[in-house]
Amino acid sequence: MADLDNLKDTKDYHLDVPARNEPFFLKGAGALDWGMQNRLARIFNPRSGRTVMLAIDHGYFLGPTSGLERIDVNIVPLLPYADALMLTRGILRTTIPPSFGRGIVLRASGGPSIRKELSNELIAVDIEDGLRLNVAAMAIQVYIGGEYETQTVNNMTRMVDMANRYGIPTLGVTAVGKDMVRDAQYFRLATRICAELGAQFVKTYYVPNGFETVTASCPVPIVMAGGKKLPELEALTMAFRAVNEGAAGVDMGRNIFQSAAPAAMIQAVQKVVHELMKPEHAYELYQELAQATRDRAGV
Ligand code: R5P
Repeated sequence: MADLDNLKDTKDYHLDVPARNEPFFLKGAGALDWGMQNRLARIFNPRSGRTVMLAIDHGYFLGPTSGLERIDVNIVPLLPYADALMLTRGILRTTIPPSFGRGIVLRASGGPSIRKELSNELIAVDIEDGLRLNVAAMAIQVYIGGEYETQTVNNMTRMVDMANRYGIPTLGVTAVGKDMVRDAQYFRLATRICAELGAQFVKTYYVPNGFETVTASCPVPIVMAGGKKLPELEALTMAFRAVNEGAAGVDMGRNIFQSAAPAAMIQAVQKVVHELMKPEHAYELYQELAQATRDRAGV
C-alpha cells in the first residue's frame, strides 16, 4: 500500500477535455469486449488495420510439406517479419520461441489426412489449451457445400460459443473441396455464413472477378489465403489486389516459405499489405533483399 504521508491535493480534472474511449477501429470490432479487441490488435497492426499472417499449419493434414520440413531452421528466422502466426499447437509448443510477442492464431480443427475426405473435420483443440497458450485467436475451417458441411459449421459455432466466454476471437477458414468452383458467388456465401454465425474474422481465397463484393458483403475483416505457389511477382500482385479490394491483409503460407528467398518475400508482402506498395516496386525490393541474402551467404 502507498504510504499516506504528504498526500497532494488533486488539482487538474481537465474539465474541457471530453473523456476519450477509442475502440479498435477494425471492421465489425466496435462492440466487442476489451479482451477480444486487444487480441485482434495483436493480429491486425493497429496503425494500418491490416495483417501479414504467416500460415505454417499445413502439417496438420499434409505432414512435412515442402518448406516446412524444419520449422526451426526455415521459419523461425521469418518471425520478426510476421504480424501473426497461424499454426498448430504441436509446432507452437515444440518449436516457436515463447518470446514471440505478436498474435498466435491456433489451428483448432482437423482430423482427416490427405488420404481421406477432408471435410470430415472435428474440433481438435480444447479452448482451455488455447488459453494456456495465450493465443490471439482460434481458427476453425468450414466446408460450405462440402460433404460434411453441417458438421464443420457446427465445429465453428461451438468454438465461437466457447471462445466468446474468454474473449478469444474465432477465425472462420473457408475451405474449398476438390471439385468446387472458386468464384465470388461461392466466397460471398461462405464468408457471410462464417460472419453471420459469429466468426470475428474470416479467411478466404482471392478471386480475380468480384473480390470486392466478397469483402463488401462480409461484416468482419477478411484475410486472403495465399494458395498454391506462384511466381513472386504474381503472388505480390494478388496480395496487392486483395488489400486494394478490401481485404484486411493476408494469411500466406506457401508463397512465402516456398519462395526462393522467404525472408525477402515476407518483407515485400509487408510493404504491399501495410503501405499498398505497387507490386512491381515490391518485386524490386524482393529482388534486392534476395540478392543481399545471397551476397551475405557468398553464393
Ligand atoms: C491449409 O493448410 C491452411 O489453412 C493454410 O493456412 C492456408 O491454406 C494458407 O496457406 P497457403 O497460403 O499456403 O494456402
